[in-house]
Amino acid sequence: MCGIVAYIGSKQALPILVNGLRRLEYRGYDSAGVALIENRSQSTESRNPEASIQCVRAVGKIDNLSEKLKGQSFDSTFGIAHTRWATHGGVTESNAHPHSDCSGKIILAHNGIIENYRELKEKLGSSHIYKSETDSEVLAHLIEFYYRGDLRKAVLEALAQVCGTYGLVVMHGDHPSLLVSARLGSPLVIGLGEQEYFVASDATPMLAYTKKVIFLEDGEVAEVSRENLHIVNLKDQNITKQTSQIEWDEASAQKQGFDHFMLKEIFDQPTVLQDAIRGRYKTEEGTAHLAGLNMTDAEMRSIKRVILIACGTASYAAMAGKYMFERLAGIPVEVDVASEFRYRDPIIDNQTLVFGISQSGETADTLAAIKEAKRKGAFVRGIVNVVGSTIARETDGGTYIHAGPELAVASTKAFTNMTAILLLYALQFGRLNKLSVATGQRLLAALAEIPEKMKLVLAQNEKIKELANKYKNNPNFLFLGRGVNFPVALEGSLKLKEITYIHSEAVAGGEMKHGPIALLSPMFPVFAIMTKNQLYDKMRSNIEEVKARKAPIILVATEGDLGAAELAQDVIFVPPTMEVLEPLLNTLPLQLFAYHTAVALGRDVDRPRNLAKSVTVE
Ligand code: F6R
Repeated sequence: MCGIVAYIGSKQALPILVNGLRRLEYRGYDSAGVALIENRSQSTESRNPEASIQCVRAVGKIDNLSEKLKGQSFDSTFGIAHTRWATHGGVTESNAHPHSDCSGKIILAHNGIIENYRELKEKLGSSHIYKSETDSEVLAHLIEFYYRGDLRKAVLEALAQVCGTYGLVVMHGDHPSLLVSARLGSPLVIGLGEQEYFVASDATPMLAYTKKVIFLEDGEVAEVSRENLHIVNLKDQNITKQTSQIEWDEASAQKQGFDHFMLKEIFDQPTVLQDAIRGRYKTEEGTAHLAGLNMTDAEMRSIKRVILIACGTASYAAMAGKYMFERLAGIPVEVDVASEFRYRDPIIDNQTLVFGISQSGETADTLAAIKEAKRKGAFVRGIVNVVGSTIARETDGGTYIHAGPELAVASTKAFTNMTAILLLYALQFGRLNKLSVATGQRLLAALAEIPEKMKLVLAQNEKIKELANKYKNNPNFLFLGRGVNFPVALEGSLKLKEITYIHSEAVAGGEMKHGPIALLSPMFPVFAIMTKNQLYDKMRSNIEEVKARKAPIILVATEGDLGAAELAQDVIFVPPTMEVLEPLLNTLPLQLFAYHTAVALGRDVDRPRNLAKSVTVE
């Protein structure tokens, strides 16, 4: 949560920072700000800092900041910027970052939480004048307290007093060529250009300039100038770091002609699904080969239980994965919401395999849960999208889902790619157990057809848009699914509520009569998944029950199911596939329905209220 971007080099910093903030806006968007050290101050260390540091902040989205910056000209090749998701202190301009100390010379942008900020404030005493209600500003004053001419040292001394988490960039008016940045619990990536450096919460702001990056680890502090990068630990000891190459390209982080990132990401799915599965299976042996698992066959055979840990959409992919694993591999699987897992006493041993599943790889609850699982001796692996993210690095192996940058707050393509990777894992374990080569081959052949079948579902975009317009004024929705389509229903419901603010619930078809059926009325549409699988007849009966209560019905049904139209007001047909693969197709109409409903209602689709994409606080 919150996005940070900093630039130091020879280019004009402001456009890089503002465009960078736009890329990071998914991390928070209640206010934003930018601080620049103007070039004229570079030759004279003693210049009046108030004349050389420019700070502009605005409440609301980046567009508001941009508007405020219009007509102002800055000559600056060094600056920091921030987009905020409020934790401490309301959404006001004075609480927006960057923050400064009493002198106005120390300027910082912070992501994370300074838990002991009250004690620190008390320690600093009444001589410090605060301009905001934030915990972050206290850090600026703490650095001021320790500052004796060496910014890095002052930051290190201040951080030694801090309890909490931070991704931090700091500059000082007296050091117009020096940026200090530090990380503990909130991600920071340093981009290495030609005589220029970028620091940001993820790599997307720097994709147009460099693919060479260094991932800062927890407890590392970087001192960055135009010519040099020097990394130390919190004890000020030098650290040598490896550079990594980012594979994402600039175009993949743009809307590419779509009105919203969410729509673009929904339409990315046929392509990125192929990216996820390419090179990860062996057709002849009818198995998957996910080398990153980092386990021997004997270790894999020793696994008696799998636990899938995730939050939100990723947890619904995990639920789909449970069906796949249990059916194909015959291994019992539990799905745990990370925030629950970390605070109970999970029973784990060295025959347990735990997967932490996360698009961002930064979700605080998932991260804490996998650390706990590791402490208890399980095999802990990651299924993650963002390369180099914390969960990817905290696990002892795993698989990147290769969905590319997912910038809309509502997750779409990450869901399908996570589900596909879980399927491949289920297949790999299944083939080590009892699954036959023929079944494995059949599954792989069916999986290979999914991208084309996804395109057929996406081709119904206009029809789904019409449905969204037809139903957009209903204040409630119920989503129904059974078996492998129950997580699909949960995901469809989450998508709808999070971007349209319409109340919706999802229920397993068989559960409806145990309570939720009382909700049904002609004003309570039911969106049900009734594709041709082993639970088809059961699901059909559930829908008959809905029909009898006169609730409008929208169905996702298998092509050629003529009976579906008799049952429902509206039907979206999807191509047939093997039952375990159905979530990869059946989720798409629900994503499109949520998207078009949100557009029809005039919602901010990519940045729904109150949310942030990367939930790095508990
Ligand atoms: C919903 C959504 C969230 C995330 C959840 C986990 O559309 O995006 O529910 O799925 O916050 O995030 P990651 O996958 O980054 O751990």
